[in-house]
Amino acid sequence: MEGEIVVTISLSKEANPTKLAHSKGCLCNFSIQSSISWVYKPVEHWKLEDQPIQPQKRHRGSSVFTLKEMEEATCSFSDDNFLGKGGFGRVYKGTLRSGEVVAIKKMELPRFKEADGEHEFRVEVDILSRLDHPNLVSLIGYCADGKHRFLVYEYMQKGNLQDHLNGIGEPKMDWPLRLKVALGAAKGLAYLHSSSAVGIPIVHRDFKSTNVLLSANFEAKISDFGLAKFMPEGQETYVTARVLGTFGYFDPEYTSTGKLTLQSDVYAFGVVLLELLTGRRAVDLNQGLNDQNLVLQVRHILNDRKKLRKVIDPELSRSSYTMESIAMFANLASRCVRTESSERPSMAECVKELQLIIYTNSKGLNMPLHALRMV
Ligand SMILES: Nc1ncnc2c1ncn2[C@@H]1O[C@H](COP(=O)(O)OP(=O)(O)OP(=O)(O)O)[C@@H](O)[C@H]1O
Ligand SMILES: [Mg+2]
Repeated sequence: MEGEIVVTISLSKEANPTKLAHSKGCLCNFSIQSSISWVYKPVEHWKLEDQPIQPQKRHRGSSVFTLKEMEEATCSFSDDNFLGKGGFGRVYKGTLRSGEVVAIKKMELPRFKEADGEHEFRVEVDILSRLDHPNLVSLIGYCADGKHRFLVYEYMQKGNLQDHLNGIGEPKMDWPLRLKVALGAAKGLAYLHSSSAVGIPIVHRDFKSTNVLLSANFEAKISDFGLAKFMPEGQETYVTARVLGTFGYFDPEYTSTGKLTLQSDVYAFGVVLLELLTGRRAVDLNQGLNDQNLVLQVRHILNDRKKLRKVIDPELSRSSYTMESIAMFANLASRCVRTESSERPSMAECVKELQLIIYTNSKGLNMPLHALRMV
């Protein structure tokens, strides 16, 4: 027997906070019967109020796996296959019966968090299986076998960006590589924010350096869509929402008013730009109270070239960057983390600026652009 999901999405152009907030992304009115297997229903099954249903390309995201297949793929979740652990549970490397190498995220939550976890699981499957972009991680499928929940993703060989910036044992990324990663992530967010993905913009809500995954050749792909939400279209629109996300990346306007906008992602993107520039963490509890938050620590000097030099990641090779490109990058970051969300650039603007920054750096260093394969 299948669990029944009724989905109602308001596509009205006016902000309709109550309705959209209630819809919590795309899943509402579902009853959680965790003992019943959940089966993803493609977009054709959804009731869209104001718009004709647009035929959507179906992706691999709806492959359904059994618990046995998940166990087989990971050698019963052996320590050798352990990749990392996040708020949802552990992540393992696995090999499917088809031979495909994947990353398998296992839901492991205390009882009181199970309902939230179930919601995140369904939003992740619903949203990711409808998206297709080289800078978004692909969902290969899922397992909803009894109470067990697994998400199966394409395997990203180089892990997450944060580990490359301040992880132990990872060689430091040079400046052109950091610019390439910033551009890739910007393109992924710009795609989400445009309505080209599903006909309505999507706000990610948990953009951060551990959710930027890197392929073997350092292509950046955004992951973790469990907190994502559909947004009404238009510049000034917002939805009111419970403040969820990660410390260090919270848009101050969102935390003080509960109004979530696409610009909340732009703020978080600005924080990741600052991590790329300084090699520091968004929040570092090892620092003194006044220096724990990266934005507060560096915001005031981002447009001051002399002081800016002091915050550049000391591990960046001097021969890999021009001060001109650093100054442009810092200026972009400073605008992304502005307190007023309306003063931040859009993600589409960030993409254009990063392309210009890459060009400026390559030109200054006499590097051929095609050799870097970056724009
Ligand atoms: N598709 C993947 N390929 C390779 N490694 C992955 C993949 N997905 C996740 N990982 C690894 O597993 C780790 C845990 O990921 P997860 O998304 O569960 O947590 P997180 O993003 O670090 O934190 P949080 O859950 O608090 O947001 C990641 O940091 C990453 O290194
Ligand atoms: Mg993650």
